[in-house]
Amino acid sequence: CFTPALLPLYDIGNSIVVVIDIFRATSSICYGIENGAAAIIPVSKVEECAAYHGTDCLLAAERDGEVVAGFDFGNSPFAYTPEKVAGRTVVLTTTNGTHAIQLSRGAKRIVIGSFFNLTALSDWLIKEQENILLVCAGWKNKFNLEDSVFAGAVVARLKDAGYSLDDSSIAALDLYGLASDDLRKYLKKTSHSERLKKLGIEKDIDFCLNVDITRAIPVLEDEKLIKLEP
Ligand code: MLT
Repeated sequence: CFTPALLPLYDIGNSIVVVIDIFRATSSICYGIENGAAAIIPVSKVEECAAYHGTDCLLAAERDGEVVAGFDFGNSPFAYTPEKVAGRTVVLTTTNGTHAIQLSRGAKRIVIGSFFNLTALSDWLIKEQENILLVCAGWKNKFNLEDSVFAGAVVARLKDAGYSLDDSSIAALDLYGLASDDLRKYLKKTSHSERLKKLGIEKDIDFCLNVDITRAIPVLEDEKLIKLEP
């Protein structure tokens, strides 16, 4: 597991990539797909999202934790409820998460992970028996704690299933060991928690740390994230 900046060092064409952005992009994507969104189209740039104005898509744009003016909503999981997204296609751009998805193109498969779908995702990965790369979106190409702790939670399950681990996976696993007793307490010290706290949205942090509240695994098919049919 590693940040997108290191992607060129890996053989992604031979791997399933799991994109991880716990606060909040991949949590919101998992929640939206679970709640019946027909699809979520991840785009890197605000202008690409704006190009869908005038279509029947919902347009979601976030930068530096805030909703970009002129869009329907941003990246809060609370915007991805069944009432808001069921049956709809959402076009989404976020500071790091959607960019990490785009950078992972070329992988055998790209799926989306968060604490919400930890068990469903891990069980599916174990069944697939492929090389797995856990891509932690981080913050502006830098390491962050929450994505790496989640990567460690996945690694813990893969290890139990007999997967061999590289050193970065062992590091993530050790980190998860430090956090797993009380995820909320451990992840309180993250820089993005501080950032979102300043914006008054700590409730999003708390919500994104719910474990196994969804089963859907979003998978990228062409330009759209849809529900994987195992
Ligand atoms: C991102 O993609 O960087 C994030 O999910 C930021 C956020 O909305 O909290």
